[in-house]
Amino acid sequence: MNIILFGPPGAGKGTQAKRLEKNRGLIQLSTGDMLRAAVAAGTEYGRKAKEVMEKGELVSDEIVINIISDRLDEGDVKNAPGVIFDGFPRTVAQAEELDKMLGGKGMKLNAVVVLEVDDEALVERITGRYTCAKCGKGYHEKFEKPKEEGVCDECGSTEFTRRADDNEETVRSRLAAYHEQTAPLIAYYETAGIVKKVDGMADIDAVTKQIEEVLDGLA
Ligand code: AP5
Repeated sequence: MNIILFGPPGAGKGTQAKRLEKNRGLIQLSTGDMLRAAVAAGTEYGRKAKEVMEKGELVSDEIVINIISDRLDEGDVKNAPGVIFDGFPRTVAQAEELDKMLGGKGMKLNAVVVLEVDDEALVERITGRYTCAKCGKGYHEKFEKPKEEGVCDECGSTEFTRRADDNEETVRSRLAAYHEQTAPLIAYYETAGIVKKVDGMADIDAVTKQIEEVLDGLA
């Protein structure tokens, strides 16, 4: 089963993708995570992407398509029961290329799960987000606190980080890019009849339940 988790920045795509990885063995393919890894490693793609990401704009279609295409050819992805595209595609050109890539690899998209969340809630979610510096587990100051304050639930680390683009000004640019370039993709996938809308304003567990119900309905 291959799905796209679709939605604006902060909608909960990463949070829900991690849960689907655990519950269903699907593999999360997050272009944002891959680009941040490329930036940290100082690769050619990373050097090109860094400034664009810090401004909250979209990295070139060419770079993200190459990154995804390479990842789809790796062994763990080929042997998995399916993948979750998180943050990809973000433009019509990326969606068209994804169709070609999947067709060429004998894969298909089963659903595009759209997380619907109000813009003002997104700003609060993103500016309150932080991550364990050691294992990458995500938290939120208000909505997803560790059980013991200042200690990661998963690995016990006391070091946490915040993303360079998680400030209010950049969030507004990211939201503008979403509405202008990415939201039109919902209509693109509606013509294929695979769009499933979910109330992303609900709490994290309730959103997981809705997504699981959608996926159970596909099986
Ligand atoms: P990317 O990393 O993809 O960021 P994004 O789309 O802006 O999404 P986020 O990771 O911010 O949010 P999310 O939906 O995963 O939310 P999360 O689950 O963390 O992209 C970053 C940049 O990379 C882009 O701006 C662009 O420059 C570039 N890029 C990436 N892909 C690209 C592409 N395909 N083409 C071109 N450029 C690309 O949740 C957020 C917070 O809210 C968390 O703290 C969480 O705990 C909390 N939360 C989650 N769900 C709920 C809930 N239901 N209720 C309350 N709180 C919640």
